[in-house]
Amino acid sequence: MASTSLPGTTDKRLASLLTLFANNATIAISGARIAREIGVSRSTVWRWIEQLREVGVRVKGRPHTGYFLERVPDILAPELLRAQLKGSLFGKRIYHFFKTDSTNRVAMELGYAGEPEGAVILAEEQSAGRGRAGRTWHSERAAGIYATLLLRPKISPVQAPLLTMMAGLSAHAAIQAQTALKLDLKWPNDLVLNGKKLGGILTEMYADTSLVRFVIVGIGINVNQEKFPAELSGIATSLRAETGRNLSRLELLARLLREFETDYNRFLREGAKSVTDRFTRASSYAVGKKVRVTNGSESFTGVTAGLAPEGLLQVERDDGKVVTVIAGDVTEAR
Ligand code: BTN
Repeated sequence: MASTSLPGTTDKRLASLLTLFANNATIAISGARIAREIGVSRSTVWRWIEQLREVGVRVKGRPHTGYFLERVPDILAPELLRAQLKGSLFGKRIYHFFKTDSTNRVAMELGYAGEPEGAVILAEEQSAGRGRAGRTWHSERAAGIYATLLLRPKISPVQAPLLTMMAGLSAHAAIQAQTALKLDLKWPNDLVLNGKKLGGILTEMYADTSLVRFVIVGIGINVNQEKFPAELSGIATSLRAETGRNLSRLELLARLLREFETDYNRFLREGAKSVTDRFTRASSYAVGKKVRVTNGSESFTGVTAGLAPEGLLQVERDDGKVVTVIAGDVTEAR
């Protein structure tokens, strides 16, 4: 299995431990039996159980009385995810970390090393999650989805930003399917819920002038965060904060990967329009929104006027001139 071949990734036998627990719900299993069944020492079992507890898995009991799970764990263990992704492009090579600096950083390295398309890099926690424009992405342990997908599409570099918008659409569809929430997409990469940021996409690539070598699509979704640091509390939200209940990250991620695969195949078959048309329908920012566009020290206001063929946002400035936004922050202006 891929997830054992990279330093720092989670030992695949840990998934066996979770499966063993899940199949014996509420029955206490002794440390000795666990060690025997998954083929590790009792001290390893103890260490793993501590690790699971740290990410919020409710393992009750002690080595001599036996361990059991209080409830089904919500950890993004490759084996559990794979079971929901049979036959999928994204079910084959899953790298899982309890903690890493950035799943995008890992994905870039794998990309350079020749990792095939379809690899998924997951972390329960990131110590240096990357956001857009050099920002950091707050990645609280086991609360959000922090996932990066590695792709090798035969497209030109100018088309790569379409994958960011496409990922936003896939996340939008997955969240809509799991909750009844009404989401918005802010060009190019924000998932917005009730005016606050619920998630974001960071796409990075390695390309020649005319051909993409590989693209990595990093997706961050705030799922079960109860609160955010002071500097984010006014602008960020989570699915839990909006619905008042915890959501299964595993189910949501599996759905997201299935939606992504469908959207990706369609994009490769039908081209940019399959993305821009859908984005225009799903995003209140695409047409007729009064916005402020800020790029470095430059800033102007205007009204959005649809997407250009490669997905760039067109804005009719207050002076009547229509401009194409290539980079920069777009915010609603009142
Ligand atoms: C944004 O600024 O809106 C983009 C945020 C992207 C965050 C995700 S979390 C998983 C992946 N790994 C990273 O380091 N960043 C992306």
